Amino acid sequence: MIYLADTANLEEIKSLLHYFPLAGVTTNPTIIGAENKPLSVILQEIIELIGDKRMLHVQMISRQAEDMLREAKTYKFKYGLGDNFFAKVPVSAEGYRAMPMLKDAGINVTATAIFTQQQALVAARAGADWVAPYVNRLDNISSHGIEVVKHIVENIDKFKLDTKVLAASFKTVDQVHRVSMVGSHAATISHEILERLRSHPMTDLSLEGFEKDGAHLYDIEF
Ligand code: E4P
Repeated sequence: MIYLADTANLEEIKSLLHYFPLAGVTTNPTIIGAENKPLSVILQEIIELIGDKRMLHVQMISRQAEDMLREAKTYKFKYGLGDNFFAKVPVSAEGYRAMPMLKDAGINVTATAIFTQQQALVAARAGADWVAPYVNRLDNISSHGIEVVKHIVENIDKFKLDTKVLAASFKTVDQVHRVSMVGSHAATISHEILERLRSHPMTDLSLEGFEKDGAHLYDIEF
């Protein structure tokens, strides 16, 4: 499983790029709204930071398929984005209609706001490159986010589809761990949870012990 950052905050992206093996960034209007800056400015800054090797998934705001296509083309061409750009399209009726249109125009598609296995399968059949089930939002309504991800992964394998799973919406490290165990190809996660999942007080304690016990005997120059 690869990790993406679910944020549009530049400081968070910068700090992650410093040490974390980040495969990309995902945004949505709520995340953009938290930054209180226009989308044009935010996108420009994120693109400069992540370069053209890491993925950038941007949520479309349009409702009609034709508008989604125009919106995605605008982002892709305005910022000269390549294959690392993914138009996030909801699994509404118009979203499903937009998916093959986007693919025909050479634009990668991430199907979002997925809450059921069948929504994901339909999106895969419509050509989506990634499908994004919302794990914590499912758990919050007494459904089973991990189970939904597991079934989506199994269906993709069973029907030999090229689509991959980008699990989204996390509130705990355990949710992240469990989507990796059921074979999610990627997870997009907040800065806070990415920090929490990579750190452990016992790691810090172990390092302190190494320092104290033997660091003074390391006399080989490097
Ligand atoms: C990502 O693509 C989704 O928009 C996001 O992960 C939703 O997360 P939330 O449920 O924490 O808002």
